[in-house]
Amino acid sequence: MRELQVLDDPAGALAERLAEAADRGANIALTGGSSPRPAYERAAELGADWSGATLWFGDERCVPPEDDRSNYGMAKAALIDRLPSGDAGPTVHRMRGEAGPNAAADDYERELRAALGEAMPRLDLVLLGLGSDGHVASLFPGSPALGERERVVVGVEEAGLEPFVPRVTLTLPAIDAAREIVFLVTGVGKAEAVARAFEGERDPAVPASLVAPLDGTVTVLLDELAARELRERR
Ligand code: 6PG
Repeated sequence: MRELQVLDDPAGALAERLAEAADRGANIALTGGSSPRPAYERAAELGADWSGATLWFGDERCVPPEDDRSNYGMAKAALIDRLPSGDAGPTVHRMRGEAGPNAAADDYERELRAALGEAMPRLDLVLLGLGSDGHVASLFPGSPALGERERVVVGVEEAGLEPFVPRVTLTLPAIDAAREIVFLVTGVGKAEAVARAFEGERDPAVPASLVAPLDGTVTVLLDELAARELRERR
């Protein structure tokens, strides 16, 4: 099931989904990039109980955590550092991008399987963004990683878009195993990619179009600008 929602305040909607999942003690994969930052800041203010929640990451850039390009660094500043720490806060599993793409992917796959089972781990909520080139997590158009069927996490030597550093990413089967997938996509720069990802055919040139949950749901939270090229809005 895929639902597109065009909202005045998609970041607020994402913040609420995130806080509700935290209250349920969910396993949540955070997304990186710049779009989710305000949503994370607002989620931290909603007074949820994060003590049972576990925060994972959908992808990471291969840089140290204190680097400006680190997805963990962004999430730490916008969300994690604003939550109670210790027993009252969430458990956080970051991808160790600084170890290099393949070692970081191996480690993270082990961590996910240890926590959620040896079969394809099922995260409760996977948050995703969309690149202007149609990429999702760090799965770029034409990347061999798109064909991965067994692995949970893989290293990606070459990023298709800035920042041009190697990446670590959940695979499509790991994303598709999630119980809930929520995209946050804002701004006119994403409008064409939105139409290709969510109204077009499945196409490896548009990795987000390949996201197809086994039995979970997909919700796409859009602002007016990002929704502008959707057929029904043209
Ligand atoms: C990353 C991502 C990536 C992101 C999109 C959108 O590490 O780059 O997690 O998939 O979600 O590139 O990023 P923006 O919000 O910065 O446009």
